[in-house]
Amino acid sequence: MVNHRHIFPAFLFIFFSPPLAIAVRYNVLTFGAKPDGVTDSTIAFLKAWYAACDSQNPATIYVPPAGTYLLKSAQFRGPCKNKAITIHIDSTLVAPLDYNVIGNNGNYWLLFERVDGISIRGGTLDGQGNGLWACKKSGKNCPSGATTLGISNSKNVEITGLTSLNSKMFHIVINGCQDVKVQGAKILAPRNSPNTDGIHVQFSIGVKIFNSKIGTGDDCVSIGPGTTNLVIHSVTCGPGHGISIGSLAKDYREVGVQNVTVKNVTFKNTQNGLRIKTWGRPSTGFVKGVLFQHAIMDNVHNPILIDQNYCPHNKNCPGKVSGVKISEVTYRDIQGTSATPVAVKFDCSKTTPCQRIKLENVKLTYKNQKAQASCANAAGTTSGSIEPTSCLY
Ligand SMILES: *[C@@H]1O[C@H](CO)[C@@H](O)[C@H](O)[C@H]1NC(C)=O
Ligand SMILES: *[C@@H]1O[C@H](CO)[C@@H](O)[C@H](O)[C@H]1NC(C)=O
Repeated sequence: MVNHRHIFPAFLFIFFSPPLAIAVRYNVLTFGAKPDGVTDSTIAFLKAWYAACDSQNPATIYVPPAGTYLLKSAQFRGPCKNKAITIHIDSTLVAPLDYNVIGNNGNYWLLFERVDGISIRGGTLDGQGNGLWACKKSGKNCPSGATTLGISNSKNVEITGLTSLNSKMFHIVINGCQDVKVQGAKILAPRNSPNTDGIHVQFSIGVKIFNSKIGTGDDCVSIGPGTTNLVIHSVTCGPGHGISIGSLAKDYREVGVQNVTVKNVTFKNTQNGLRIKTWGRPSTGFVKGVLFQHAIMDNVHNPILIDQNYCPHNKNCPGKVSGVKISEVTYRDIQGTSATPVAVKFDCSKTTPCQRIKLENVKLTYKNQKAQASCANAAGTTSGSIEPTSCLY
């Protein structure tokens, strides 16, 4: 009898335990993808996605290093049956050269939507933006173009070691997400390519971007409304427009930006370094709790900039006064060279002045001379050595 009680549970364990969570692997070639750079492999990739998404077990989609895969717009949608999908890319995915084929209305080339627990490893995404940029520069009527990679309404996403080249529009957009990590990314487009922002984050909480190199024709990282708990560290920017919170106040009702940390960043030959930019018009938006720490500026036009009077073509900015309230912004250990005489500019709102700006150990020079600081409606404190001399009140 005693023996029986021991044997019975063991018997149960062997025959009735749930199956081990063995990862399944889906190779896109088995779904008909053709790595010849000309055959449209969109359907094959989507079939692999639906197999992985339908799997009860962790799943890997494998894109082998056989060549180049042409994809048209593809939407990889959840929710999925497992929370551990890996997309392992050992080759290049290329977008159609013809900009009329994808993203005529601000769409995405590749979009992940409502997924939880996915990891994208490796891979090169080639947006082939040249044709669209040429169209935009010629002043013709062109489509706005597709963002290369969108992560939308998703959580627990990791993007590791991705290279994104020559996007038609933004390279990566993270929208409505929670806990997204981008690391080891290389994002490259020419300095004169229009609207090719590196990474844009909005309405998202807990995004981390680190160990990445971003050089494009627009913002390195742009931070839109509703961004909370964002960390950017060990990122090199340039060419391009630098790291920008904004543009904000595009809409009157807007959620704020809160708790942003930008650490150990280098800017090379960029238009801006650390910028906060709001339209000069009424808004419920705000920026609160920003730490810029350990930044190196190398020939940057506007190393430190708050611009609350953004109003291109002076249109739709009644009274030109921004309602966005900016407070608790710290600049700590910011060094290097400005490409213009004014290295620090705080141009804040007349009705909602910038408050609790902190400068700690700032040293910015202009052609080996003293640079200047310019302030309007900016209140705050300094500590350590500050050059150019602070103009905060
Ligand atoms: C700010 O964001 C960081 C990074 O996500 C997080 O660790 C920290 O708890 C946040 N701070 C507050 C006060 O929410
Ligand atoms: C700072 O960033 C650079 C790359 O831009 C990296 O090589 C270095 O390890 C980072 N330092 C720290 C302390 O994170």
